[in-house]
Amino acid sequence: MVQFRKITWDNFEECIHLKLSDEQNNFLASNVYSLAQSYVALLNDDLPAMTFAIYDLDTMIGFIMMYYDNAEENEYGNESCYGILRLMIDKRYQNKGYGTLAMTKAIAYIKSFPQGEATSVYIAYSPDNKVARNLYTSLGFAETGIISNGELVAKLEI
Ligand SMILES: CC(C)(COP(=O)(O)OP(=O)(O)OC[C@H]1O[C@@H](n2cnc3c(N)ncnc32)[C@H](O)[C@@H]1OP(=O)(O)O)[C@@H](O)C(=O)NCCC(=O)NCCS
Repeated sequence: MVQFRKITWDNFEECIHLKLSDEQNNFLASNVYSLAQSYVALLNDDLPAMTFAIYDLDTMIGFIMMYYDNAEENEYGNESCYGILRLMIDKRYQNKGYGTLAMTKAIAYIKSFPQGEATSVYIAYSPDNKVARNLYTSLGFAETGIISNGELVAKLEI
């Protein structure tokens, strides 16, 4: 069963050491960068980034980082929204269904509106990232036509 667990003193080093393939490293900032970014968000933004280690039972298999933007701050539209900024499954555990389960769990979590109400979820990915693109499309994300920092922006209405 896939679970999201908070990052703690006990598991953050393991989270930092999760690995992708060399090619996949081009698709995503490192987990250490993401955790540093969430620290800056914590000190400066109204709401903390939602960062979790992803587990199957007691095995850490990945990492996810989400955020909430209210209507004024949303860079893609004039609605309040959530975004999934990072999702990674360690290369040892890929292609076993975990990415799909983690995304399904992330959408359910977002639908509980942990930081406020919203009508959509955004995600962005490299045009070369076919696995991510297919995965998000299969869960109902539709490309918006927006390109942000070279990444395709897709949206799910919730
Ligand atoms: C994208 C990612 C999270 C998917 O995780 P995953 O656990 O491998 O995903 P799943 O096992 O649920 O597979 C999802 C689909 O992709 C396919 N897939 C997974 N890995 C694949 C690979 N290496 N080659 C081809 N297809 C692959 C699966 O067959 C499945 O397809 P299906 O639904 O038609 O059966 C993972 O590849 C990853 O961490 N990539 C690097 C980081 C990244 O790109 N993150 C997304 C940035 S937005």
